[in-house]
Amino acid sequence: MFSEKTMKNLKKSSWIRAMFEQGNKLTEIYGAENVYDFSIGNPEVEPPAEVVRAINEIAADKSPGTHRYMPNAGYPFVKEAIAEKLSAMYKTAIPSANICMVCGAAAGLNVVFRSILNPGEEVIIFAPYFAEYKFYVENSSGVPIVVETKSDFQMDVESFKAAISAKTKAVLINSPNNPTGVIYGKKTLMDMAEVIGEKEKELGIDILLISDEPYNEIIYDIDELPVVFNIFEKAIVINSYSKSLALPGERIGYIAASPRIENCDKLMAAIIFNNRTLGFVNAPAFAQRVVEKAINASIDSDIYKERRDILYDHLISLGFECQKPDGAFYLFVKSPVEDELEFVATAQKYNVLVVPGRGFGRPGYFRMSFCISLDTIKRSLPAIDKIAAEYFEL
Ligand SMILES: Cc1ncc(COP(=O)(O)O)c(C=O)c1O
Repeated sequence: MFSEKTMKNLKKSSWIRAMFEQGNKLTEIYGAENVYDFSIGNPEVEPPAEVVRAINEIAADKSPGTHRYMPNAGYPFVKEAIAEKLSAMYKTAIPSANICMVCGAAAGLNVVFRSILNPGEEVIIFAPYFAEYKFYVENSSGVPIVVETKSDFQMDVESFKAAISAKTKAVLINSPNNPTGVIYGKKTLMDMAEVIGEKEKELGIDILLISDEPYNEIIYDIDELPVVFNIFEKAIVINSYSKSLALPGERIGYIAASPRIENCDKLMAAIIFNNRTLGFVNAPAFAQRVVEKAINASIDSDIYKERRDILYDHLISLGFECQKPDGAFYLFVKSPVEDELEFVATAQKYNVLVVPGRGFGRPGYFRMSFCISLDTIKRSLPAIDKIAAEYFEL
C-alpha cells in the first residue's frame, strides 16, 4: 500500500529516530533533568538580540501585502542584502540573481539536486556524512557515491580520485562538518579542485562543487573559512540560518551560485522552478524579512566553544580518542569497543544518549552534540565518568 522505497529508507534512517524515541522514553521515566541527551543538533541557545528585535518590528508592521506570495526566488531586497554581504565576504561580485531563498539547507540541497541530476548520475559524498544526504540525492534519482576520509576525517586524494566516474555530476562537501566538526582548509580544497579539473578533462564531463555550509558561523580558533567560489570554477553554496541565527524551526536559508558557472541563468531558472514545484513555493516571507533586518547578526560561537572545551577535555582526560572539532557543535568520538552499538547501549544505562557512527556512515564511532545547555553538560560529567570506568582503567 505504501512506497517500497520509503519503507526501505525508513529502516535505514532508524538510528537517529531510535535515539530520539529512546530519549523521550528515558525522560518520561527519569525526568528531563536526569537524562543527558547528546543526540540531537537542535540549538539550545536563543537567537541573537538583533533577530528578536527584527521579529518584533516585523510583527508590528501593519503594511498591507506583507504576507502575500512573492517571486519564487524570494524578496528582491532580501536577495540584494545577502548578495551584498557575500560579495564583501568573498571579495568577488555575487549578483542577487544568483541567490534563491529556500526553506533551510535541507530544502536547498533537494532543490539543487533536482536541478542538476539526471537519473543514475552520481554525487560524491565524504564519510562520515550528514545522514540525510543519501536520501536527498536519491530523491532526485541520483546515486550517492561514498568516499571514505582519512583517520583525521580529511579528504584522501587517492580515494577521491578513484571515486570519480563518467557519471559524476557533483561533489558535495560540508565544512565545518556534521558529524566530525572538521574544517577543510584552503590546501585541501585546492587539491580537490585540482583533482576535479584533471578528471573533467580526462572524462570530458563537468563537475559541480556543492558546499553545504550551515555551520559557517560556528568556528573556533580560526578567523575565517576558505571561500569555495574563489577555489572552484563551478561552485554552489547552500546556507541556512538554522544554526547561525539559531532559527531551525523557521526554515530559512539560501542557495548562491557562482557567477563563474557557464549558463548560470539557466541553472538559476531550474533552481527557482524546482523551489516552486517541489512544493516549497517560496521561503517563508516573515523569516526572509527577519534575515534582511538582522543581516550582520550571528550567534556567538564562544558559547559553543566553552561547551566544546569542557566536554572534549573531559573525554580526553578519561582516555577517549576524538578529533578536536574546529567548528559546528559535534564531537565524533572513537568507540572504546569496536561495536559502537554496545557502547551506545552502555551509555544509555547511565541515561547518556549518543548516536552510533554507523548512522553517519562510519561505524566504530559515536556522535555527541554539544548544542545542549552548559548546565546539562556539566551535570552529565559524573555519568560519563561511570561509562568510561566500564572501558578504561581510571
Ligand atoms: C550538514 C547539515 N546540512 C544540512 C542540514 C539541514 O539544516 P536546515 O535546518 O538548514 O535544513 C543540517 C542540519 O542539521 C546539517 O547538519
